[in-house]
Amino acid sequence: MTFSKVLDLSELPENSHRPVDFKGKRIALFHYRGKITALGNACLHRGGSLGDGFIQEIEGEPYIACPWHGWQYNIVTGKAPAGFKDCQSTYEVKVENGEILVSEKPATPAFRAEHDHDPVEDLRHLRYQTTPASLNVLGISTTNLNPELPRPSTSEYALEQALQIAKTEHGANTKMLKLRDLKFRHCEGYYSRHEQACTWPCSITDMDASDGMTQVYRDLVLWADVVFLATPIRWGNASSLYYKMVERLNTVQNQITLHDKVLIKNKVASFIVTGGQDNIQSVVGQLNTFFTDIGFVFPPFNFVAWSRGWIQEDMENNVELFKRSRYIKRSVKELVHNSVQLSRQIKQLDTSTLRTPKPSIRDSRGGHEE
Ligand code: FES
Repeated sequence: MTFSKVLDLSELPENSHRPVDFKGKRIALFHYRGKITALGNACLHRGGSLGDGFIQEIEGEPYIACPWHGWQYNIVTGKAPAGFKDCQSTYEVKVENGEILVSEKPATPAFRAEHDHDPVEDLRHLRYQTTPASLNVLGISTTNLNPELPRPSTSEYALEQALQIAKTEHGANTKMLKLRDLKFRHCEGYYSRHEQACTWPCSITDMDASDGMTQVYRDLVLWADVVFLATPIRWGNASSLYYKMVERLNTVQNQITLHDKVLIKNKVASFIVTGGQDNIQSVVGQLNTFFTDIGFVFPPFNFVAWSRGWIQEDMENNVELFKRSRYIKRSVKELVHNSVQLSRQIKQLDTSTLRTPKPSIRDSRGGHEE
């Protein structure tokens, strides 16, 4: 085994670790419990830099946790914790004359376990369920109701009407997602660590397919031709569940930023916004901004809204008036009509020439004209 110097010992004090360039590759060096060890630096999950990770103790042994999504490796053996077969490559290390010497070749190779069953394989490979002739209409209800004490929701009521019209009058396949029924984690902001740490499928979903957003990704990205999203107005904004979902959809938007890859093509979005008091234009503006940013298109007049105004606090009358409103009946029907019409037309569009005039990672890396 040939060894070469990588650092002076003084550059790696006890209780420290760091990534270093070594013979055309990057390794992670560790100095803990009086021992110096070395592993391959690129995490076997998505390539996070292990030398920038965090030391964690598992059953008395030191492990390095990847800074991107937390995969762990024993800093001596390279092995993942019990129950996982993955193993990071290890290098032999010697200390001579105050210098750290590392074997030029790994002592043990990296092993990335094949997972027999990939529960998000359809997302990973973008197995779209739409066809040129499909009309799949997805409703997303973002209101937060307590199932123990159900109460009427105007936004969800109108959404149900919209799906019913899509089905009976336009022959659509329909599906309803109620965000409150899907248990899902908040976006944990992996992007802030490194742009490549925000992955598709979302790293949370990738590591835990039972997370409720898996269903949203599947239905919104792979299945739907038309999406109707309904939200109440809460303090002048869309519902908090809406924003929770949207933050987890960073993974869709970041594919454009990072890889010029548009996941949403030829899909239509329209909105139902209802509130006791007004701020409709602001809420719809926010919804439009986000949905166009991930690739949806809108028909003319792409929202239906309801508000009785600032002083109408008699909420006990609100639902009844809403249900009896001629405006709501007519406008929901027209919203569905416009959305279905547009869906049929945009299916003819050639998306191979689609441009994304959005900032990309290249723009932030000196992408300036001289
Ligand atoms: S890249 Fe290391 S845990 Fe995801």
